[in-house]
Amino acid sequence: MIGFLSAKGKKMYILGIESSCDETAASVVEGADGKVNVRSNIVASQISMHREWGGVVPELAGRAHIECISRVVKEALDAAGVALSDIGAIAVTSNPGLIGALLIGVNFAKSLAFANNIPLVPVDHIKGHVAANYLTEAPPKPPFVSAVVSGGHTTLYMCESYTSYTELGSTLDDAAGEAFDKVGRVIGLKYPAGAEMDVLAKEGDKTAYKFPLPLAGKELDFSFSGLKTAALNCVHNASQKGEEINRADIAASFTHAVVSGICKRAGEAIERSGSKQLVFAGGVSANSHLRAGLKETCREHGAEFFCPPLSLCGDNGAMIAAQGYYEYLAGTRAGTELNAKPS
Ligand code: KG4
Ligand code: ZN
Repeated sequence: MIGFLSAKGKKMYILGIESSCDETAASVVEGADGKVNVRSNIVASQISMHREWGGVVPELAGRAHIECISRVVKEALDAAGVALSDIGAIAVTSNPGLIGALLIGVNFAKSLAFANNIPLVPVDHIKGHVAANYLTEAPPKPPFVSAVVSGGHTTLYMCESYTSYTELGSTLDDAAGEAFDKVGRVIGLKYPAGAEMDVLAKEGDKTAYKFPLPLAGKELDFSFSGLKTAALNCVHNASQKGEEINRADIAASFTHAVVSGICKRAGEAIERSGSKQLVFAGGVSANSHLRAGLKETCREHGAEFFCPPLSLCGDNGAMIAAQGYYEYLAGTRAGTELNAKPS
């Protein structure tokens, strides 16, 4: 196969394609001897378009993906300095995500793969987020516990291998990122508010408001709806009474509750699993307060803490290509019947 550079018999290039939500992304990752390295990483963000509507509009996302996916993939190949004939596998996000958005990437990857006789590897977006951690100097090695915290997920997994995960606990309602975005919106921040909430929280008093922790039941589950509603009510009540609210205090107190809840569950997951590694992933893994909190949790539990570089926390093609490499090695392949799955 052309894509296998036979110098050491093991090096290969993987083209990763991601279109599950509001970023059209492609990347070339080099895989060799069980390790991965980024060769290019192109992300076309739709955030400014969705911002007008206060959130992602699925119909618009699909249309925007189809407009730029060819260009984004070409740029990824050009920036890596490789031709399509050098690619050993095409990895594409096939689930979960917005169906109309996923279908664009899946169909594009399928056409490219089968027209050029390149193996097609479907990738789970969540596993992709975790795989962003493999693109570092000192990556984690399974088995480990991972905490995936994003706009759509807040889940703890036992990752037995690069490709096999068991869910330990998850949110029963909203995801943490979604809660950050909604609370940010009521205090006047633009969508998506997570990054601005992070900065604002540094200026506030985390003890100013006492919000409930985002925990559900006795197991390792979460619930963010109570915390989100408490923060929203606090802002609405103050505005009805004509009282000034301190936005930084709201951001700090809300963030404190999120960090306390996630760290508590992560600590429990480390104890229950006996794992000595915790791997943080997802868009919210960019949050400085959560990074610091989980690092401390790991220290308390004698575990090593891993998080992706900030540039790879949000949706990108490199994480999909990295996971694609390990899926490829494990024999994961898709045929022409590959479809997108929203969940
Ligand atoms: O993983 P991601 O890019 O998309 C999904 O797969 O959902 O995550 C996006 C989410 C948004 O809710 C965004 O507000 C949040 O990640 N986010 C943050 C930060 N940066 C992005 N949340 C808190 N603090 C941040 N620094
Ligand atoms: Zn994501």
